[in-house]
Amino acid sequence: MESSIFLKQLAFELVIENKDKFKEHKDSVVLGMGGSHLAADLLGLRVHSDYGLPSDLADKKDILIIAVSYSGNTEETLDGFNLALSKYLPLAVISTGGKLLELARQNNIPYIQLPNIGIQPRETIGFQLKALLKLTGKENELQEIAKLSNDINLDNLELQGRELAEKIKNYIPIIYSSAKNKPLAYFWKIVFNETAKIPAFYNVFSELNHNEIEGFNWNEKTKHLSEKFIFIFLKDNSDNPRIIKRMELTEKIYKNKGFNVHSVILGNKTEISQLLASIYIALATAYSLALIYGSDPQKTDLIDELKTYISQ
Ligand code: PA5
Repeated sequence: MESSIFLKQLAFELVIENKDKFKEHKDSVVLGMGGSHLAADLLGLRVHSDYGLPSDLADKKDILIIAVSYSGNTEETLDGFNLALSKYLPLAVISTGGKLLELARQNNIPYIQLPNIGIQPRETIGFQLKALLKLTGKENELQEIAKLSNDINLDNLELQGRELAEKIKNYIPIIYSSAKNKPLAYFWKIVFNETAKIPAFYNVFSELNHNEIEGFNWNEKTKHLSEKFIFIFLKDNSDNPRIIKRMELTEKIYKNKGFNVHSVILGNKTEISQLLASIYIALATAYSLALIYGSDPQKTDLIDELKTYISQ
């Protein structure tokens, strides 16, 4: 993705339509699949990625249900939205169009229409973060993002992404982070899958120290299973010191077993700037890998194929 598109998202002013029907709620749940729930994960919002609604929400009128679908045509999200509509639960929509926006308009549901600028859902992370912050009334964070659209140095982050892609080339990346940064590690995995079209996995400390670590204790008969993996550690110096120590020790153990381990340092500025910087490095790394492998970063053929079959 071009840096200008990322910056444009950070600077873009989003509008709540049907605002007279909109009421801020103390709690919210986001309905969304794939690229359309990544922003909610990153903001630590509760997410429901399935058909229907979470069972404890059945009759709750004090929780805002935010249906997010970039295309507006994702069946699981539409299913939850329709159920909430039939139960008169408080709803809001974030979408570029499709059936979801049509239904929001027909039923006077508050909505934010994202501009359709021909990029993929996971690449609209800036728009999606801003739309969610707006619906959840986080004005300070919104202002910070708008300011960052002038301050953030994307060239430097892009270079980091390109360099990392060269190191990851020909390996299967496994991304490790603290549990606190799990949504970020997941974001990295997803962009490797969808943009670069490669397998990628993630896990978090300290849980992985109690199981996964042993899976890399290869011997001569299992070495060939392990040798395709490479590790990316997302290091955050605001993590619990014991987690930082565990990361250092795991890195040492893995290196002793002959694995390549690379670190991405999450800067210690504000949480939002740290988040956006890591998101952009992930996008740039996956984009560079797509170019290296000759994959089309914009296409998701298998996702589309599955959607076609299931809708028949
Ligand atoms: O990245 C993608 O293309 C997918 O993960 C989609 O986001 C997912 O299939 C859901 O579609 P939508 O975002 O249009 O609701």
